[in-house]
Amino acid sequence: MKKITSICCIGAGYVGGPTMSVIAQKCPEIKVTVVDINEARIEAWNDKDLDKLPVYEPGLAEVVDEARGRNLFFSTDVDKAIQEAEMIFISVNTPTKTYGVGKGRAADLKFVELCARQIARVANGDKIVVEKSTLPVRTAESVKRILKAEAGEHEFQILSNPEFLAEGTAIDDLHNADRMLIGGDQDEKGQEAIQALVDVYAHWLPKDRLITTNLWSSELSKLTANAFLAQRVSSINAISALCERTGADVDEVANAIGSDSRIGPKFLKSSVGFGGSCFQKDILNLVYLCRHFGLPEVADYWEQVVAMNDYQKHRFAKQIIDTLFNTVSGKKIAFLGWAFKKDTNDTRESAAIYVAHELLQDRAEIHVYDPKVPKAQMFRDMEYLIENPGSVYTENPLPENWRDLIVVHEEPYTAMDSAHAIAVLTEWDEFKTYDWASIYAKMLKPAFVFDGRNILDGEAMAEYGFEFRGIGKGLEKARANVEA
Ligand code: NAD
Ligand code: UDX
Repeated sequence: MKKITSICCIGAGYVGGPTMSVIAQKCPEIKVTVVDINEARIEAWNDKDLDKLPVYEPGLAEVVDEARGRNLFFSTDVDKAIQEAEMIFISVNTPTKTYGVGKGRAADLKFVELCARQIARVANGDKIVVEKSTLPVRTAESVKRILKAEAGEHEFQILSNPEFLAEGTAIDDLHNADRMLIGGDQDEKGQEAIQALVDVYAHWLPKDRLITTNLWSSELSKLTANAFLAQRVSSINAISALCERTGADVDEVANAIGSDSRIGPKFLKSSVGFGGSCFQKDILNLVYLCRHFGLPEVADYWEQVVAMNDYQKHRFAKQIIDTLFNTVSGKKIAFLGWAFKKDTNDTRESAAIYVAHELLQDRAEIHVYDPKVPKAQMFRDMEYLIENPGSVYTENPLPENWRDLIVVHEEPYTAMDSAHAIAVLTEWDEFKTYDWASIYAKMLKPAFVFDGRNILDGEAMAEYGFEFRGIGKGLEKARANVEA
C-alpha cells in the first residue's frame, strides 16, 4: 500500500491552515505545503511573529512553531506544490452564491472548480484529490469530470474528507476529533486511496474514529451534521422566547432536557443567534439541494432553522429599542464583542452585525469593543450586509452617515462610559471579570444591560443597580402578563 510522503493543500484559511498544521505536526515524515492565491495571507502564515498568524486559535501558534520550516510550508506557488504532492486537499471557500442561479441559497463552487482545473492542467503524475471544503452532495462527480476531461494519461482518485472542527477550539478538535470521515469510490483503486488517507490520520487518531463511506454519504453527512447542530440552537432559542413570556428560565429548561441522555447537554445554550461561516450557508445549501431534487417539504423544514435564527437576532435588537423607550436614536449603545463566538477573530455572519444593522436603522450610536476583531473588519462586515441583506429585518436602508455612528474602541471601559445601554454579543471570558460597579457608576441611568449570551450573573448585576435582561429570562414580563 502506497504511503503518502507529500501533501499539498489549496486554501490557507480557517480550515486549511490549522488542519494542515496539525497533520504536519503529527506526521513529521510527510511534507505538507499549504498554498493560497492571497499573498498577504501566506506572508502572515510565514511571519516570524506568531501573533501575526492570520487565524487566531488557541494552541495554533505552538503547533505552527513546531512544524513550520521542518515539514510545514506556506507558499503562493500553487503549481509547484501541486506537482510535488501525491495528495492534494482542496480547502477553499464555498460561500453562498450572491448572484445568478441559486443566488442567496446555493453554494458558490467557482473556487473549487478553478482548483480542479488547475490540478488537471499542471499535474505531472497520478494524484489523490481530497475535498476538504464543505460541498453539496454529488460535487465529487463534477470534480471527477473536470479532472478526467483534462487529465491526459494521469489518474485521479477523489476523496471526500469534510472537516468538523469548530472555530475557537480548532486545535483541540483536530487533536481529539470525535471522528474523521473519509468517503471514496468503492472499487479497488478507490479503497486504496481511502486507505492512504486513513494512514495519515491514524498517526494520532484511534482506528475506530476513522469512518469510511461512499462519496455521497460523506458529502451529505457534513451538511447534515451542521444542520442538526444549528437546529438545536434554533430550537432552544425558540423556547427562550416562550420563557420570556412565561417566567421559565431557558438555562434551567436546557439543563433539565439536556440531562436526558437521549437529548444530551451540548449545543443547548440559548443566545442572540448563531453565526459563523458554516451554519447558515450549509443549511441554505441543503435547502437548495432539497428543492433541486424535488423535495419542497424537506426544504421548508430545514429553512425554518435559519428563519428562527433571523427572528432571534431581530428579537434581541427589538428588545433593546423597545426597552429604551421605543427609540435608540442618538443613544450610546456599547457592544461587547463582535466575533461570532469567543476565542476567534472570525466575524462571518456574526449576530453582532445584524443587531448593529437594526439599531443603526433606528439611528443608534454604537460603540464596539472586541478583543480580537480589528475596526476595518467591522466596517467590511457592515458593507457586506448592506449589499447582501438576506433577511427581511435588514432590508431597510441605513442613514447615510452610518459610518459615523459606529465607534470602535481599543479597550472596553471607554466604550461603556456614559452609555445608555450595554449589549453582550460575544461570550468572551474577559467580560465576566470587568469592574461592573464602576461601569454602572459611569453609565446614564437607568443603566441597561442586554446579555445576548447569558454569561453575566443577573442577580449580581441587578444588585449593582443595572436593569438587566438575559435571553430567555423573562420574570419581569411574565409578572406583567399575570398582572395584566
Ligand atoms: P477561508 O475563506 O478562511 O479560506 C479559504 C482560502 O482559500 C482563502 O484564503 C482563499 O484565498 C483561498 N483560495 C480560494 N480560491 C483559491 C484558489 N483557486 N487557489 C488558491 N487559494 C484559493 O475559508 P475556510 O473557513 O477555511 O473554509 C474553507 C472550507 O471549509 C469551506 O468550504 C467551509 O465551508 C469549510 N469549513 C469551514 C469551517 C470553519 O470553521 N471555518 C469548518 C468546517 C468546514
Ligand atoms: C460549526 C460546527 O460546530 C463545526 O463542526 C463545523 O465544522 C463548522 O461549523 P463553528 O461555526 O466554528 O463550527 O462554531 P460552533 O461552536 O458550532 O458555533 C456556531 C454558532 O452557534 C456560534 O455563533 C455560537 O455562538 C452559536 N452557538 C453554539 C449557540 O448559540 N449555542 C450553542 O449552544 C452552541
